[in-house]
Amino acid sequence: MGRKSNKGKEKKLKRKEENAKLAQSYAKVEAANKIENPMESLAAFKQYERNGLNLTIDCERVSNIDPSLIDWAFQLTKTNMETLYEQSEWGWKDKEKKDEMTEEKARYLIVKDQDGKPVGFVHFQFDIECEEEVLYCYEIQLESQYRNKGLGKFLMQILELIANKTEMMKVMLTAFKHNHDGYDFFTKTMKFEVDLISPEASLYEESYTYVILSKLTRAGKRAAALAEAAEHTLEHNGRCMSSNCGHAC
Ligand SMILES: CC(C)(COP(=O)(O)OP(=O)(O)OC[C@H]1O[C@@H](n2cnc3c(N)ncnc32)[C@H](O)[C@@H]1OP(=O)(O)O)[C@@H](O)C(=O)NCCC(=O)NCCS
Repeated sequence: MGRKSNKGKEKKLKRKEENAKLAQSYAKVEAANKIENPMESLAAFKQYERNGLNLTIDCERVSNIDPSLIDWAFQLTKTNMETLYEQSEWGWKDKEKKDEMTEEKARYLIVKDQDGKPVGFVHFQFDIECEEEVLYCYEIQLESQYRNKGLGKFLMQILELIANKTEMMKVMLTAFKHNHDGYDFFTKTMKFEVDLISPEASLYEESYTYVILSKLTRAGKRAAALAEAAEHTLEHNGRCMSSNCGHAC
């Protein structure tokens, strides 16, 4: 009897490792979703006093937000985005957007002025995307007179801090290519990059009007460095083995 190949065992081991990793990712998302207030330890970020603005920022679950505030957020999104959606393959649908904005897992950063009037918001969720734990930014919308004063950047930085604290791998979002200001804001100001899962990243899909952008968190950078090191070791071992014993590994 010859020696049995190890390939089957290796595959099984790899699958086991992948399943364990996925279980870990789900556990992290579940833990993040249980946190009552992700801004609890970010007291310094609850106030925005720059460029003539004096605003407060709170983080709330959608279930704790007054329906009239959700209506305002929906109307602001519609005002800012309807035309851009109409120019895309998706079109604008009130009900779909309302349903998305009120999904159970939805969290909001709500920005208010000194009189308690809302002036901007971020809708985000902790979720699994392509087997990775991510903080997905669904929406960032500011009333027009509050733009270009650094507030958008400040809010995105809060998201990055929350994603770091909850050990998500990335902050992720979908952006329209034809929303030039928004696209520049994410890619140039916030340094987001086209994600591997974006249709843009594929050679064969050039006709989409949107891209999926992402930015690695601390945990994401660590994981990427480990994966790169593992790949390097594998390549290196492969070369050594092939030169020493003639086996392709
Ligand atoms: C896209 C959006 C969220 C960006 O937020 P914002 O507050 O306007 O952006 P910021 O002011 O933080 O940053 C934008 C630029 O303005 C600059 N800026 C900051 N403070 C400034 C000031 N006082 N005066 C002029 N420019 C300023 C920033 O430096 C940045 O430019 P940079 O590329 O040189 O860094 C906001 O414009 C918006 O709500 N747009 C409509 C909705 C939308 O398109 N949302 C995105 C899709 S979901």
